[in-house]
Amino acid sequence: MSTTGALHSSYCLLLLALFIVPSAWSAEPVKVSVYYESLCPDSSRFFVNQLYPVWLELKDIMANDIHCYGKANDTAVGDGYTFICQHGPDECEGNMMITCAKSYIPDEDKFMAFSNCIMDRFVGTAAGQECAQEAGVTNFSEIETCYTSVEGQQLLHQVGLLQETLDPQIYYVPWILINDVFTSEQLTAAQIALRKVVCDAYQGTPPAACST
Ligand SMILES: *[C@@H]1O[C@H](CO)[C@@H](O)[C@H](O)[C@H]1NC(C)=O
Ligand SMILES: *[C@@H]1O[C@H](CO)[C@@H](O)[C@H](O)[C@H]1NC(C)=O
Repeated sequence: MSTTGALHSSYCLLLLALFIVPSAWSAEPVKVSVYYESLCPDSSRFFVNQLYPVWLELKDIMANDIHCYGKANDTAVGDGYTFICQHGPDECEGNMMITCAKSYIPDEDKFMAFSNCIMDRFVGTAAGQECAQEAGVTNFSEIETCYTSVEGQQLLHQVGLLQETLDPQIYYVPWILINDVFTSEQLTAAQIALRKVVCDAYQGTPPAACST
């Protein structure tokens, strides 16, 4: 090989390196959308056994998009709404608390810890104060003011409107989409092994947590 040839191929390698290395780092996180209910046993199991532990391991490559409405509906009353939920009024109140918490806990680590605790305790708002303390959420009173007022009703109504835009519509809870796509096979797979689903969907270099 001539000197020019060798120089040329090392340029190619350099260019390759410049293009390959950054793309490995800049892959989009995998969007995990979950539509769930505060007092739904399958939602609780999924949150506590899959979503929360997998997110703790994979948060660098995972973008949560979670909404607590589910099989419910609402009717406008004055400035607010009344709700009917699959598991009764306590579930509606719990959904509203989680929705208010999402607005009032800007730190995602704390919001996820709080939500995980609520889904684990499985008693709706009755665990609010205790879970806030456990998650290091210092302003629970703001959340309480939200879910006991018209503000919480309006926020939860918005979640319902968002959920209505899904195609297909939910027929099971927790309803799970990966990168905005729903398939029933994926719904089953995500409830058994979310980590594999997220790792398989990730386009970049898989993090170490994907190979254990
Ligand atoms: C509202 O939601 C409840 C709980 O899932 C359900 O039983 C009821 O049929 C729904 N009502 C309407 C009008 O969709
Ligand atoms: C309390 O809630 C407000 C939103 O009203 C938020 O901006 C603030 O960061 C929260 N404080 C803490 C300590 O989480």
